[in-house]
Amino acid sequence: MSGDLGLAYTLQIFGFSLVIAASLAFASSRFGKLHARDRILARLKLRGDETVLDVGCGHGLLLIAAAKLLPCGRAVGIDLWSQWEQADNSREATLRNAALEGVEDRVSVHDGDMCKLPFGDRSFDAALAHFAIHNVHGRGRRREAIREIVRTLKQGGQVAISDIFSLNLYADELRKSDMIDVEISGRSFWTFPPARTVTAKKRSQSA
Ligand SMILES: C[S@@+](CC[C@H](N)C(=O)[O-])C[C@H]1O[C@@H](n2cnc3c(N)ncnc32)[C@H](O)[C@@H]1O
Repeated sequence: MSGDLGLAYTLQIFGFSLVIAASLAFASSRFGKLHARDRILARLKLRGDETVLDVGCGHGLLLIAAAKLLPCGRAVGIDLWSQWEQADNSREATLRNAALEGVEDRVSVHDGDMCKLPFGDRSFDAALAHFAIHNVHGRGRRREAIREIVRTLKQGGQVAISDIFSLNLYADELRKSDMIDVEISGRSFWTFPPARTVTAKKRSQSA
């Protein structure tokens, strides 16, 4: 009898935890991630004429918001469109979202792997990655993704990478890649799971 009660309590606690986790995930995707997105973009202090790369852009959460801040610039997304990480994940879906938000003329979206970016050295003024790099398997490959971001940044370019884990690894690779002002924020609870953001700047020629 007491064994049955114990099992019932365990199941109740498990069910309750699932409901809490589902509610937090819903609140995050409905409201929290928009707030988080704006805070990340605010860290870049964009003028409005830059070219900004969003690595693992998915449906364009940051890409499209960045484009809105770039009346004279351009937002460039790249993704390999994992269906496991985001449903209906495709270039067409992201371009459709950009059109719905009225920024399709300032957005371009590419197919590709963030560990081998199909862009030349020093192409971008800023780079973003939101909940994307942790999906790359293996610490070595995540470091490759960071090196690729640095390679494609112009001198003086800025980076903001928000993720749920591996932030210390990103910061370490950024420092090794000669980035300066490398800082990791405190954990933000606007998303579920909560995330931290690492920001850094590429040394300008004179620095
Ligand atoms: C959780 S989603 C986040 C999407 C978007 N950044 C956001 O915040 O809504 C992760 C994205 O990273 C992409 N991704 C995963 N590994 C990648 C890789 N090696 N190269 C490019 N994109 C990748 C997935 O296809 C997916 O669209």
